[in-house]
Amino acid sequence: MIERGTIFCDNNMAEVKIIGFGEGIPKRCVSNDALTTLVDTNDEWIRSRTGIQQRYIATDETLTDLCTQAAQNALEQAGITAEQLDLVIVATLTPDLALPNASCMLQKSIGAVNAACFDLSAACSGFMYALNTARMYIKGGAAKYALVVGGEILSKIIDWTDRSTCVLFGDGAGAAVVAKSDEPGILDIVLGTDGAKGEALMLEERPSDNPFRRQYIEENGAIETNLPSAGSFVSMNGQEVFKFAVKRVPECIFKILENTGYSVEDIDYYVLHQANLRILSCVAKKIGVSYDKFYVNLDKYGNTSAASVPIALVEMSKKGMLKKGMKVIMVGFGGGLTWGGGLVII
Ligand code: ACO
Repeated sequence: MIERGTIFCDNNMAEVKIIGFGEGIPKRCVSNDALTTLVDTNDEWIRSRTGIQQRYIATDETLTDLCTQAAQNALEQAGITAEQLDLVIVATLTPDLALPNASCMLQKSIGAVNAACFDLSAACSGFMYALNTARMYIKGGAAKYALVVGGEILSKIIDWTDRSTCVLFGDGAGAAVVAKSDEPGILDIVLGTDGAKGEALMLEERPSDNPFRRQYIEENGAIETNLPSAGSFVSMNGQEVFKFAVKRVPECIFKILENTGYSVEDIDYYVLHQANLRILSCVAKKIGVSYDKFYVNLDKYGNTSAASVPIALVEMSKKGMLKKGMKVIMVGFGGGLTWGGGLVII
């Protein structure tokens, strides 16, 4: 069954389970108060509009360092070695280098010598897109063990003089080891995209330039493109993103529930991308479920984009909140605009 704008995945193949989680967090914790020395803001504004109290920002750490930490923790919990991995996918929009990509650098660092490695770019939904990709490889028999990492060093693409964005984000990485299983694990994943609204969150790529293009411009004058004008730092239409999130996330949750036959009450926890407290409470209200079922840690980490869902799962696991058999819905949403949600049995 394939619907317009949505990828629904056929479940009639091998079961796939998440068998380990891990996180990599930079050392340097930056409070809201610390940001008041950079921009005209204050702790009260940031807390009341977003729920964020602090975030971790990379200083001497690279993305590879954070992903390595997350991967090693996840492998340890899964009880497998890096050599057993068939696949490594890193979801990121902030790799250390364009070449080699983040997954190849991670492979080298952890010694996943038998794995095929690639990066995936779907912004804050990246972890869910990567998780689904790994799931499909395993379901199709092309892999037995996969490592899925969402990791970002957003601090390098943020304008630290722009108070409307710099207070929102943090750095970090979260990883999951995914494996073929005899028991139910990832029951369903629903992905969707609305590229028409992409301009709500933008960041420039390296500008096009080569001798032939320059010669063309000399001969024909400036090239007009229909590309939207994006800056070299993240820009955001916060209210558009807000409206998008509170519409698409509930839709995504209801679709997952419809596909799997569960009700909102059957779900033990909702683990959503940690963008904004008001988005989370609005989604809880819209789906008609107690906010207590929503895990929140954005007060501590800020918005870590592709890393936020796996980091939340690690914390929940460490706190003993995730018991075998529990049902958890995870949803990522953000740049693109994209969204992706899934239901897993712990
Ligand atoms: N400190 C103090 N004042 C600020 C700050 C700040 N850090 N940032 C903006 N303001 C001011 C603005 O300049 C504006 O002042 P003005 O009224 O004098 O012009 C005022 O606060 C209100 O600004 P808005 O942008 O209208 O504030 P809003 O209530 O919409 O909150 C926010 C902004 C928190 C970004 C909100 O739009 C939101 O939650 N959007 C969702 C998007 C989101 O969470 N994005 C995260 C990244 S994307 C993702 O992960 C999916």
